[in-house]
Amino acid sequence: MIIEPVIKGVVAKSAHPVGCEQAVLQQIQYVKQSEPITNGPKRVLIIGGSSGFGLATRIALTFGRSKADTISVSYEHGPSSKGVGSAGFYNNIAFKKFAEEEGRIAVNIQGDAFSDSIKEQVIEAVETYFEGEVDLIVYSVASGVRPKPNSDEMWRSAIKPIGQSVSGASILLETDTWQQTTLPPATDQEVDETIKVMGGEDWEAWVDALINSESIGEGCKTLAFSYIGPELTHPIYLDGTLGRAKIDLHQTSHSLNLKLANFNGGAYATVCKALVTKASVFIPGLTPYILALYKVMKERGTHEGCIEQMQRLFRDKVYSTGKIPVDCERLLRMDDRELDVETQREVNQLVSQLNADNFKQLGDYQGFKQEFLRLNGFSFDDVDYGKEIDLESWINSDA
Ligand code: NAD
Ligand code: NA
Repeated sequence: MIIEPVIKGVVAKSAHPVGCEQAVLQQIQYVKQSEPITNGPKRVLIIGGSSGFGLATRIALTFGRSKADTISVSYEHGPSSKGVGSAGFYNNIAFKKFAEEEGRIAVNIQGDAFSDSIKEQVIEAVETYFEGEVDLIVYSVASGVRPKPNSDEMWRSAIKPIGQSVSGASILLETDTWQQTTLPPATDQEVDETIKVMGGEDWEAWVDALINSESIGEGCKTLAFSYIGPELTHPIYLDGTLGRAKIDLHQTSHSLNLKLANFNGGAYATVCKALVTKASVFIPGLTPYILALYKVMKERGTHEGCIEQMQRLFRDKVYSTGKIPVDCERLLRMDDRELDVETQREVNQLVSQLNADNFKQLGDYQGFKQEFLRLNGFSFDDVDYGKEIDLESWINSDA
């Protein structure tokens, strides 16, 4: 078959296996030519390792000097009557192939990270492949839902402001159009459910499960990712439902830090830069900011993608020789370049000019759209998209 990009609103409905492999390969190449991570961990568990920051973590630690073995949990799907399958599914295949070529262990566990059964499956894999212990646990799940235990119901996260409505614009990637939206304030229930889905509870459940099964190695660290952003984005992010969930995650980092102190390890909420991922394009009101931010940071030469952020995180912060640097709230900050004063001054100026007619010219819409397509394996120069691809044999030859 020939696979074409299919986008509905801001959601990709197709993915190209060859392009996903290319995306993984480019990140591997970046890591190999970049200044190495020394003293890195050897046995790494990534929860949410099939795309975005989780995949970049996996690549940085496997293909750099760290040469880590990895177990990754993700929620992805292969081809079915509904379509070709998700990009993360093909990223998993590509990652495993390249990692095994270099002699690394790369275990992909697909299923719901919130469930007990997947936690048990991972603990078994840690026994089998890691001699029973992990050195680093990275929690990088981004989800809209979480099944309630022992029930058919779900908690659903909402992306809404709190206490007031907020207007902003979304950009429909499907039609390249700017859409002005007003988001009503969240109800208390929506706030609570967002904290259930995107807060720290499941991160803590993972670390507890690994402590209880005696799977924590000496010095084991755990990280989860957060976002804070500049004032401009606070109404929709930090002061809204997602921000509440992130504050919960920050608090969880403190309790996990105490628990891991028993193993001479630690826990860190890591604040990253705003980036185009499957998860972030979903946030209404954030896109104009990202278009302006990309434009300004690329011009200033300070732009980073997921892989650049993760390589710098592990090399300069987590596994450098000194103490792990944190701010006054004990957060590990990777958003320093985004929040640079001069950068924000320019971004503010640019955002205030953006509108439905000029966002493609004034903002970095081209870069934004291309990055989105590439997340799904499209828009790579050296992939022949006209070539027939047999999914069945692709999956079998690589798996
Ligand atoms: P992403 O969509 O690229 O990755 C999410 C991962 O979670 C995927 O591997 C997916 O398979 C997995 N996942 C989703 N539901 C799951 C489930 N039920 N069980 C198992 N795995 C599941 O998203 P991302 O942007 O890399 O987000 C990762 C974290 O980084 C999130 O906490 C997000 O808030 C945070 N973050 C993102 C940004 C940004 O701008 N993208 C900035 C700062 C922080
Ligand atoms: Na991720």
